[in-house]
Amino acid sequence: MTTYNNVLYQTDNGIGMITLNRPKALNALNSELLTELNGLLDEIAQDDSVKVVIITGSGDKAFVAGADIAEMQNISPLEGRAFGKFGQAIFNKLENIPQPVIAAVNGFALGGGCELAMACDIRIASDKAKFGQPEVGLGIVPGFGGTQRLPRLIGKGRAKELLYTADMINAEEAYRIGLVNRIVAAEELLSTAKELAEKIMARAQAAVQLCKAAVNTGMDTDLESGIAYEAEVFGLCFASADQKEGMSAFIGKRKPNFSNK
Ligand code: CAA
Repeated sequence: MTTYNNVLYQTDNGIGMITLNRPKALNALNSELLTELNGLLDEIAQDDSVKVVIITGSGDKAFVAGADIAEMQNISPLEGRAFGKFGQAIFNKLENIPQPVIAAVNGFALGGGCELAMACDIRIASDKAKFGQPEVGLGIVPGFGGTQRLPRLIGKGRAKELLYTADMINAEEAYRIGLVNRIVAAEELLSTAKELAEKIMARAQAAVQLCKAAVNTGMDTDLESGIAYEAEVFGLCFASADQKEGMSAFIGKRKPNFSNK
């Protein structure tokens, strides 16, 4: 396992725990951190022993306070486009790694931080978390997918209000508009994320991963193509040992013992 300067990574019983670690800059995403996250995601995607990934930020203040403003301050339009594409590619990779990813949002999730949380499958917020897309206050637009994932997640009208005002919202409001799945006390954030990961890990992993692929594929296409894809992955499940185990456990009135094969 590679070690990184700005990203901590630990595995524990099937959970891959990523902690973004630039607390002095509120975990802002600079090129080095993004490059490291990119490499780590490649490692995780190929590691069958990792069933669920949790991402959080180090320190008690921020999840991620956005892309690194100091690094962006003097870049050219072409460099800006390249930086945007780089971040987008990493967040697309995160969204599409086989394993489910839970964002444990422990504080500020602004700009690229909100965009990072939105590229995860499930978002749990601490009661201290704050969300927003402050980019128009800096003279730019969100560049790591925010103009696209925010309306898909919370609807066009609410997304436009957040994007145009650069308003910061608290966890309650984020929950109310569907930006996060739930809110928990700050002290319970990681234990709640781990409990959720364990619940997912108790299910048939190939089926969980195919659900992720089917939702992601379907949300980017029309209903007819999406359900056609679903039929294919539904059929594929019948090639797995876990389908046989899951169904024979049900018929035999016992708990399934999945082998993840
Ligand atoms: N980039 C670089 N450094 C940042 C940063 C960022 N996004 N956010 C915070 N920091 C740094 C600060 O410069 C400060 O560093 P120093 O101690 O060296 O001065 C340190 O982190 C602590 O921050 P503050 O002193 O500002 O802390 P605060 O508690 O007063 O405020 C905050 C917290 C409201 C989150 C404030 O830091 C802030 O507004 N940060 C910027 C948020 C932002 O605009 N994010 C969007 C970035 S653009 C983007 O993300 C584009 C994209 O879509 C890809």
